[in-house]
Amino acid sequence: MKVAVLYGGTSKEREVSLSTGKGMIKALEELNHDVLAIDFNPSQLDALLTQLKDVDLVFIGLHGKQGEDGTVQGLLDLLDIPYVGSGVLSSSLAMDKTRAKQVFAMHNIPVAKSETYHFKETRFKVIDHVKKHFDTPFVVKPNQEGSTLGLTVVESWEQLNDAIQLAFTHDSDIIVETYVQGRELTVAVLGNYGDEQSLPVIEIVPKSKYYDYESKYAEGGSEHIVPAEIDEELTMEIQNYAKLAHQSLGCETYSRVDFILNEQLEPIILEVNTLPGMTPTSLYPDAAAAVDLSYVEMIQLFIDLTLE
Ligand code: DAL
Ligand code: MG
Repeated sequence: MKVAVLYGGTSKEREVSLSTGKGMIKALEELNHDVLAIDFNPSQLDALLTQLKDVDLVFIGLHGKQGEDGTVQGLLDLLDIPYVGSGVLSSSLAMDKTRAKQVFAMHNIPVAKSETYHFKETRFKVIDHVKKHFDTPFVVKPNQEGSTLGLTVVESWEQLNDAIQLAFTHDSDIIVETYVQGRELTVAVLGNYGDEQSLPVIEIVPKSKYYDYESKYAEGGSEHIVPAEIDEELTMEIQNYAKLAHQSLGCETYSRVDFILNEQLEPIILEVNTLPGMTPTSLYPDAAAAVDLSYVEMIQLFIDLTLE
């Protein structure tokens, strides 16, 4: 089978995406597929359309805007080429943290209190509103971004202006959200619609104070504990929320759902990643390994689920 892997891309998560793509390419080659590796460049669509002729299936190894947000999925839909993972609507919904949170709340999945601001609102008005509605510490982050890029945990009010400025360099909308103190948990969801399963819950223990870009991607930046050391009842509750979150956005085949377990042992959902990191040391492959699914077997299962 001829399988194309779109990876790299032009988003701010390009470096992660190169690594995700390489992991996918290696696995597909081991499975003896005819692999076409494409470093995706949205400004060279003509070349892409030529390359995609005769392709049977596409793996999207991209992260962030113009990759994870539904745009590439839309292009592949127009070309009528099957691809692994979520479609247009669920990809863009998951990427839009504000609107995804509205859907989660509708399904009674606990979310942190937040407000969204648009860049056209005056800075004075935004700061005034934040001061009235939040106490430090709180989080300022772009509405659409990944890998904690552009995110600041504001611990003192003097940081607020710079935090807003930074978040707006990534997106035209920013979110201010209550900082939830607690344990970082994540759940990989796998399967076709209505038949998904949540894999074992993973606890992430960052080496630094926060689970930031450095602790996500630097060698030894964080420790993954699989399964997380939490009791069975809470494990099932978190796994159920993960599956519900995945289904509520209409995700397909695979996603990874991030939570903070607060000090009252309540799992607060952060987001659903429709194209989670798939580097060989990423969280999703770690969760698969915990159910005896190697990276290569996981990739083959994705193909089977997509084409079945
Ligand atoms: N956005 C990164 C790739 C992740 O969630 O794994
Ligand atoms: Mg993310």
